[in-house]
Amino acid sequence: MIKRTLVIIKPNAVKDKNVGKIINRIEETGFIILGIKMIQLSREEAESFYYVHRGKPFFKDLIDFMTSDKCITMVLEGNYVITNIRNFVGDTDPEKAKKGTIRYEFGDDLSKNAIHASDGIETSKFEVNFFFPEFSWETGKL
Ligand code: CMP
Repeated sequence: MIKRTLVIIKPNAVKDKNVGKIINRIEETGFIILGIKMIQLSREEAESFYYVHRGKPFFKDLIDFMTSDKCITMVLEGNYVITNIRNFVGDTDPEKAKKGTIRYEFGDDLSKNAIHASDGIETSKFEVNFFFPEFSWETGKL
């Protein structure tokens, strides 16, 4: 079933010049990039985007890191894209991620794990709409 999801290439992967390699893998794996932007998140934006983690011990570090430099945000589309992209990015902790996944290859640690991907349908709707209202599930033809 065709769906959409949001991916963020995080500041460590941008600083390490791994954007091209990661995008190449996304395309070679067959995901369609519907929209793409380079942005630097404000604290307010990062705190709103990651609102589900508010109050957790790692929240401040997460916000500090995600606002520290530029990110690449993307909307991807494809068959079963939400599940498929989660397998493609790997475990949240790069040390536990399977060989060949993006976090295994490009992640430094649990915080600097190179990439974010929406973890379910509801999250994906919220996250796509957050950065790309023009591609929201409600407005775009799926
Ligand atoms: P991400 O997919 O962007 O979603 C929330 C982020 O919080 C997660 O990736 C990690 O980079 C970061 N994080 C830092 N510490 C933890 C933790 N203990 N558990 C889960 N996520 C963490």
